[in-house]
Amino acid sequence: MDDLQHAHQQVCSLDLDLMASGEIPDDRKPLDGNFYPLPDKILREYRAERNESELGKILKTANQLQSSVEAIVVLGIGGSYMGTRALMDACCEPYYNELSKAERGGRPQLYFAGNHLDNDALQGVLARLRAVTPEGNWGIIVISKSGETLETAVAFRTLLDLLKQQCPHDLPNFVIPITGEEGSLNQMAAELGCANVFRVPAGVGGRFSLFSAVGLLPAATIGLDVVQLLQGAADMNETFRTAELSSNPPLDFALAAYQLQLQGDVSIRVLSVWEQAFASLGMWYDQLLSESLGKDGQGMTPITMVNTRDLHSRAQQHQAGRNDKWIVNLSTRQSHTDQLKIQESTSDVAGLNDLAGVTLGELSAAARQGTNRALCDVQRPTADIVLERGDEYGLGQFFQMMMLATVVEGKLLGVNPYGQPGVEAYKKHMRNILLSDRSG
Ligand code: PA5
Repeated sequence: MDDLQHAHQQVCSLDLDLMASGEIPDDRKPLDGNFYPLPDKILREYRAERNESELGKILKTANQLQSSVEAIVVLGIGGSYMGTRALMDACCEPYYNELSKAERGGRPQLYFAGNHLDNDALQGVLARLRAVTPEGNWGIIVISKSGETLETAVAFRTLLDLLKQQCPHDLPNFVIPITGEEGSLNQMAAELGCANVFRVPAGVGGRFSLFSAVGLLPAATIGLDVVQLLQGAADMNETFRTAELSSNPPLDFALAAYQLQLQGDVSIRVLSVWEQAFASLGMWYDQLLSESLGKDGQGMTPITMVNTRDLHSRAQQHQAGRNDKWIVNLSTRQSHTDQLKIQESTSDVAGLNDLAGVTLGELSAAARQGTNRALCDVQRPTADIVLERGDEYGLGQFFQMMMLATVVEGKLLGVNPYGQPGVEAYKKHMRNILLSDRSG
């Protein structure tokens, strides 16, 4: 077992050595292992160089945005936005955008677009922007590593038109592109003369890019503590490098996932979240698992379940349907706000007086434990990931744990966890359909 542990912990370092050598064999491409040292690197540089470092520049830009705009629209799809969405939903107040500016600590509202081709949804964002900032003091953070993604490009063109009409002079300060070194977004950034352009680092794939400007800039703009976020991720790296099996979350998780697949029947992985605010974390993980390991006829199918809501929809099937699922619970020990308690009532029609004094947290924990026991009674596998708190530090740990675990699981399965070649198939057909419609 020791050998196995050592081998898997080395796996990520070996990838980095190969990347540094500049000689990646064709059968190992793409190799995007740079997500692993990224949190440590960004923190180290920030501590040494402060304002001159990447994080220093991100924080400066975030401060400028906070003092100059009422709203920001983050444009991006897949890994270019899902981590930010997950962070915002998990760490901000549930109704953040509806708070007054003072209640938001002077920070801008944050909207998302460029992640669909839905006319009404895009019109909805345009309408919000016109209503919230009729004088045009809103900004765009447009994120695309390739710089070529259709959904993002369409939304960018549409929103840019509005911004140009409303405040033509401030465009260079109000549009912040985050992109790779090449591609049309890069070119547009130069044409617009954008004052701040950030890079998706080389060797970091989209769904692994949260700890670059991709996630850090929007998060810092709405006041999230990105240093704590990075520290959580860096600490998870340290645990991954040094901890023994059974107290090494990324390794333990990957090995459990692999063993379940070896046994053959389990093909669906349910991330069963016990906070409403974690629904988008599930979306982020859906992409990470699907695009990383759904290759060569392999990989479990991810599903997100939000509890206790989905106990009233999915639990029947999990309990008594096909025994092909692994239920992975994600919960927190502490809530962001004070615990509500069930109060005594003189009218006890619902019979809740028996539970008077019990907190919402205790109810939720009982539901989680009860669900696990019920599944165990019928030999269905479960696992528990428990965060101390759903704050920036805890989330940083979780994101890095799942990215590392996914890479290790890929190595165990013999699947390259990087790249997503399967996504190109629909794009080819879509292009042909559009071209034939136009020529016909
Ligand atoms: O994980 C990935 O790399 C992809 O899911 C991308 O994040 C997604 O396709 C968006 O790509 P881009 O950032 O190039 O617009």
